Amino acid sequence: MEPTGDLLAALDAVLGDTSGAELQRLAARLTATYRGDALPGDVLDSPAAARAYAAYRMPATTAAVRAALHATFGPTAPLGAAPADAAGPGAVGPDAARCREPRTLLDVGGGTGGAVWAAAAVLPSLRTATVLDRSRDALALGRQLAARGPAGLVRTATWTRAVLGAELPAADLATIAYVLAELPADARRALVGQVRADTVAVVEPGTPAGHRRVLEAREVLIGRGLRVVAPCPHDLACPMDVPGDWCHFAARLPRSPRHRQAKGGTLGWEDEKFSYVVATRAAAEPEPGRIVRHPYLRKGLVELTVCARPPGISRENVSKRQGPAYRAARDAGWGDPWPPEG
Ligand SMILES: C[S@@+](CC[C@H](N)C(=O)[O-])C[C@H]1O[C@@H](n2cnc3c(N)ncnc32)[C@H](O)[C@@H]1O
Repeated sequence: MEPTGDLLAALDAVLGDTSGAELQRLAARLTATYRGDALPGDVLDSPAAARAYAAYRMPATTAAVRAALHATFGPTAPLGAAPADAAGPGAVGPDAARCREPRTLLDVGGGTGGAVWAAAAVLPSLRTATVLDRSRDALALGRQLAARGPAGLVRTATWTRAVLGAELPAADLATIAYVLAELPADARRALVGQVRADTVAVVEPGTPAGHRRVLEAREVLIGRGLRVVAPCPHDLACPMDVPGDWCHFAARLPRSPRHRQAKGGTLGWEDEKFSYVVATRAAAEPEPGRIVRHPYLRKGLVELTVCARPPGISRENVSKRQGPAYRAARDAGWGDPWPPEG
């Protein structure tokens, strides 16, 4: 459970003069809008709404994007940076370097810019970030927060007002986080089809509906010739696309006192459930399998639920007698690759 950069401190500093009661009232309005069946419309339509979003949702969406990027670009992940002189186990081909070490980020529907904070924490190769959003108030607040962020990508990000539908600038990496739920189906597919990036990360809430939107985006990305690198071990049909099941993960994040106040909660942490897909132009190999439920620990036995190739979900019991495999299973978490490398 790591805070993302100094985000919580920046939120505290920038939201310092907003009363807790006001944040709670606005956050309750946001929750009701997001939980409703209708498309939410222009939610971040005032400085106060943007502040409530930042206090109430931004730490969690940032943590989810960070987890998705870590699963893709982390040291042993499919696009993990290889030593300059080695082909490495993952990406190969002419675009491999740009895919492994993206220099430009486009955050589509980026709001207050959580994905920029997340990407800065995972991808030191990034040099420029552009946040596109229709909400002036979200962009203005994002800029204010970023001014208190870590030097480099966050502080130098560009904040641009844009209504999705127009042509998008090209980038090495594009993030589309928690945006698709706000668009009608045809606009969702059009947006994902339109993004011009070598690698595209789509993150949605970890609900059945969020997973369905991720699968829709996955289909569009595969149709455009990109390869899925996380979380799926293959590009084939999702075995969790069945009634009553859905693929999702959890990112644990600390809550600051202000965050607790906006949430009306007392716990010092929360688990953000999210669904995601990352696809790339690089000829990268995804992990052979991924743990898709909390591992279940019993005496001398770890039960893992693994999504693997060929498409399927299997239950693996790893017993103490299996020595290193048992120790690896005991240390593994929901969302980790399985089996571990080596
Ligand atoms: C739930 S927020 C997510 C913000 C950010 N990506 C994050 O993960 O915290 C959805 C964002 O999408 C933006 N958005 C929704 N529809 C849009 C559209 N048609 N054009 C531009 N921005 C849009 C909203 O203004 C809002 O900032």
